[in-house]
Amino acid sequence: MKTIVTFGTFDLLHIGHVKLLKRASELVPNSKLIVGISSDSLNFSKKGHYPIYDFDERNEIISSIKYVYSTFKENSLEDKVAYLKEQNADILVMGDDWKGKFDYCKKELPNLEIVYLPRTELISTTETIIKIRS
Ligand code: CTP
Repeated sequence: MKTIVTFGTFDLLHIGHVKLLKRASELVPNSKLIVGISSDSLNFSKKGHYPIYDFDERNEIISSIKYVYSTFKENSLEDKVAYLKEQNADILVMGDDWKGKFDYCKKELPNLEIVYLPRTELISTTETIIKIRS
């Protein structure tokens, strides 16, 4: 059974998130999808604000999705290779907003396949927050 790993914050779960998780889980038949969920402080360092839903809430929401086999907490962007090793990842899936940014992982993990999936258009957590605020 192949192990597919993806990473993200997944705050204010929206259709783009669900489609990404569905497509990742269906990349290879008979595989399991493991999701590295950003800690609250990692999200702060990436995006300059804390998530609306805290880690435990986001973890519970993502864990309840049928495409997701298991989750873990991602504390640092720099530790991708260590997380991928820990999870025995065969495939790393990221949205194409990260295109090319994780290719360096193949230096230490030459058998790792990296797939960048196209983002769903016209939706993001940030846009949703802006819409609600306005
Ligand atoms: N994603 C996607 N399509 C979207 C939004 C997100 O496929 N419209 C994917 C991202 O590429 C990533 C995962 O969902 O692989 C988690 O993304 P995240 O950054 O948590 O969501 P965003 O909506 O992009 O959040 P933000 O607006 O805060 O950047």
